[in-house]
Amino acid sequence: MTSPVLELRGIDKRFAGVHALQDVNLTLYPGEVHALMGQNGAGKSTLIKVLTGVVSLDAGDILLEGRAIRPGSPLDAQKLGISTVYQEVNLCPNLSVAENIFAGYFPRRGALHGFGIDWPATHRQSRELLARIGLDIDVTRTLTSYSVAVQQMVAIARALKLSSKVLILDEPTSSLDDDEVRRLFDVLRRLREQGLAILFVTHFLNQVYAISDRITVLRNSRRVGEWRASELGTPALIAAMLGRELAAAQARQSPPDDVDPNAADHVLLDAVRLGQTGQLQPIDLRVRAGEVVGIAGLLGSGRTELAKLLFGLEKPDEGELRIDGVPVSFATPAQAIRHGIAFCPEERKADGIVAELSLRENIALALQARLGARRCLTRAEQNALAERFVRALGIKAANLDMPIGLLSGGNQQKALIARWLATEPRLLILDEPTRGIDVAAKQEIMDEIMRLASTGMAVLFISSEISEVVRIANRIVVLRDRRKVGELPAGTSEDTVCEMIGAEHG
Ligand SMILES: Nc1ncnc2c1ncn2[C@@H]1O[C@H](COP(=O)(O)OP(=O)(O)OP(=O)(O)O)[C@@H](O)[C@H]1O
Ligand SMILES: [Mg+2]
Repeated sequence: MTSPVLELRGIDKRFAGVHALQDVNLTLYPGEVHALMGQNGAGKSTLIKVLTGVVSLDAGDILLEGRAIRPGSPLDAQKLGISTVYQEVNLCPNLSVAENIFAGYFPRRGALHGFGIDWPATHRQSRELLARIGLDIDVTRTLTSYSVAVQQMVAIARALKLSSKVLILDEPTSSLDDDEVRRLFDVLRRLREQGLAILFVTHFLNQVYAISDRITVLRNSRRVGEWRASELGTPALIAAMLGRELAAAQARQSPPDDVDPNAADHVLLDAVRLGQTGQLQPIDLRVRAGEVVGIAGLLGSGRTELAKLLFGLEKPDEGELRIDGVPVSFATPAQAIRHGIAFCPEERKADGIVAELSLRENIALALQARLGARRCLTRAEQNALAERFVRALGIKAANLDMPIGLLSGGNQQKALIARWLATEPRLLILDEPTRGIDVAAKQEIMDEIMRLASTGMAVLFISSEISEVVRIANRIVVLRDRRKVGELPAGTSEDTVCEMIGAEHG
């Protein structure tokens, strides 16, 4: 048996009010992909931060190839051979691919040339590194000219340059489509063959089984156990993540009553040949009160563009939008909000959370904006509102005054959904609402959406997870290449939807 490349022993970490890690052990072997699983707030990202020197640990040992280490910063960790690639690629978008790979470590030319950067060598070595993960792209182009998936692979190449022994990926696939996930996994398999130890965090259970050799589960800041992936079935994995009682309760839960489509005849939103040149071909879309309309399509199919047109973030240059049968044109989101439309965007870091504000303030934000400056929510009202949604969506936080930036990723996402639900919109547009959210919480959010729909709220549910769209939608609109290619009724199989989404270009 080979010896471990990395061992964490008895790791303990407290933040003010939160005991985030309690006596956690983790062992990584060279040449394995190891999944780190657990509910939102279980402590996964914190464990990674401890390991990579982002936060200090209170107790415990980190052993790299048997030697005790104590990285003081991510750079420190990288120099030791422990590299991390985050979901939000933290590279410089306007620099070239090669510059991103070598920033801070450029190959230099000799004294004769004044120690200038050796560009030919930089480019050649960049190409070699990318070849190691099977990627052949123009390394002189800017990073932004490539997809997020490719950008992530560039981040991996950068990590590899620093002769990594351990590669850590925290939710790397949450903004990738199926093809891109397959490519990333091909890369990970290559690296596994080359002897790297890979630690991988995800909320997609199927991905765990597709790629990992072993699984460690955290629950409430403690390690529940460690298994070979082949020996831990999905139900057992879920039970380990949730705890046995909770898992059993989940299984017993009956799906909410179906919405009666005839009871909701009022056409709330009617888009007629609505389009924007270069962004979205003219489409027809009707949403009735109480209806959940699913929008299915690959990344880049026009889903987000559609949402932005409906919410006044972009201006259509074709067609008409009607609310309650009356033509409207939104110059700003504020006007859309006044008409009862809410939009929970996909990019929570960029468009969503205000990291310095408290959880309470973040939840109250959109409602306050709708009420206007003359009707300020009192602190008591804000508290009541926040408490209600913390309970309804199971948001995990030490208290309501905690800056939202300190919540775990999944809990931030829930707070963002709460913010828009709090405005009691007539039409709620959700763009990838369950991204980064654990299995149990996904169900809670879907239940809450269905409950609200049954009270008459209309929902536009945008998701790359077809299984969710099929489960929740009364009707499914399929987009491809920025065009609406079809509409499918409730009860359509996942396969049929996938076929329509992925069908060959016309
Ligand atoms: N800097 C901090 N200050 C206070 N509390 C924190 C801080 N960082 C994390 N926490 C808390 O520690 C707990 C664990 O958070 P962590 O981010 O590790 O969860 P996670 O398992 O990665 O969850 P997710 O799946 O949602 O990303 C949470 O309760 C979180 O609010
Ligand atoms: Mg996390």
